[in-house]
This record gives sequence, structure tokens and C-alpha cells, in this order.
Amino acid sequence: MIKISPSILSCDYARMGEEFENMKRCGADWLHIDVMDGHFVPNITLGAPIVKCMRPHSDLVFDVHLMISDPKKYIPDFVKAGADVITFHAEADSPVEETIDLIRSLGCTAALAVKPATPAEVAFPYLEKLGMVLVMTVEPGFGGQSFMADMMPKVQALRAEITRRGLATDIQVDGGISLNTVETAAKAGANVLVAGSAIFGADDPKAMIAALRESAAKYF
Ligand code: DX5
Ligand code: ZN
Repeated sequence: MIKISPSILSCDYARMGEEFENMKRCGADWLHIDVMDGHFVPNITLGAPIVKCMRPHSDLVFDVHLMISDPKKYIPDFVKAGADVITFHAEADSPVEETIDLIRSLGCTAALAVKPATPAEVAFPYLEKLGMVLVMTVEPGFGGQSFMADMMPKVQALRAEITRRGLATDIQVDGGISLNTVETAAKAGANVLVAGSAIFGADDPKAMIAALRESAAKYF
């Protein structure tokens, strides 16, 4: 199933409550919340207290993308704040399996992200425990970068392995998703599409979400 997850990195942070409510009216499935610590990536965004404040403003799935060096330490805070899906990076300092187990034990869906230089195969040993794998299609840290089409073999390899094992694991792509690139990503096997600048920068975000969904849906 296709899910569109607008990245709130591109929203107006002074009006986050309204932006979250508006994304539901516009037909978003999830809300992608980018957490950056200025250490794992060269940018700083927000932490669990802000996620907690946002929770009453939306009943959509909170898809929390942790771009932080020590996810294990902060995961309980994000769970308490209302996260539903928690994605952490294979390249972070926390042991992968322990971190997946922690997320699951706290009742959230665990997802593993890989940066462009990391092979998709690092996720293979954990696929049974993961609700989702995130293949980054830009270097994490900033919105508005160009989509890396050369990541598509990683998406294809994951989709093939997930199908081979009969799993229902979602594959997310994040970075540079727009009407120009969404078909390429969906064709390769991605079904959860994050888009920041394409949605928040659109004159009509509702029409943009519908168009992204329609372009991707022909492959699912
Ligand atoms: C980048 C973030 C993305 C980003 C995507 O590190 O993880 O979620 O907001 O932004 P766009 O869609 O503008 O590339
Ligand atoms: Zn993200």
C-alpha cells in the first residue's frame, strides 16, 4: 500500500500545529518528523518535547526519523512523546538488533535507515523484526536536495528479498521525491514516499499529495 509521508522539515515551524492539521486535510497518510542532533548530521531540528506538543494536533501516524548518533538513549522519550514508527540509522552508534528490540518492546514499529554509502544488505538480518526499511535518496541533513536515482538498485534488492521471504515490510524513500522522481522510486519497489519541499512548496499541497499517490500507485 502506498503511503505519503510529508516531511515536516519543510513546514513553517512557527505554525506547526496548523501545518499538521492541514496535512491531514490534504490526504497525507503519515507525518515524517526529522530529528537531527547536529552530530550525526550537520543540522539540528527538534526533540521529543516538540513531538509531544504536536501529538494533539494530529491522529496521523508519526513517522519519526532519528538522524542522531545515540538513538537508543532517546528512543524512550520519543515513544512517550507519541511516536508510532521509529526509524534509526544503521550507521549510528547504537547496536542495531538491541535498538530494534527496544523500539518493539515499547510498542512502536521499528525501522532501519541506510545512508547512500551503506549497502541495503545491512538490513537483511533484521527484516523479520522491521516494519520498514528507509533507503535514503539524499545524504541526510537537509531538505531540497536532488534525488539519487543510483539508490534504486538498493530498493530493488530489498523488495526482492522482502518478497522472497513473504514479508510485508514497507520500503521508504526519503530525499528529492517529487512528481519527477516518484515513479522511479515506486517502480523500484518503494511504497512509503517522504516528500518535504515538493509538498510544502506546492501551491496546492492536496493536489500534490494526490498526484504523488497516483503516480506511485500504478506499481502497487
Ligand atoms: C533529509 C530528511 C528528509 C528531507 C526531505 O535529511 O531526512 O526527510 O526533509 O526533504 P525533500 O523532500 O525536500 O528532499
Ligand atoms: Zn527524513
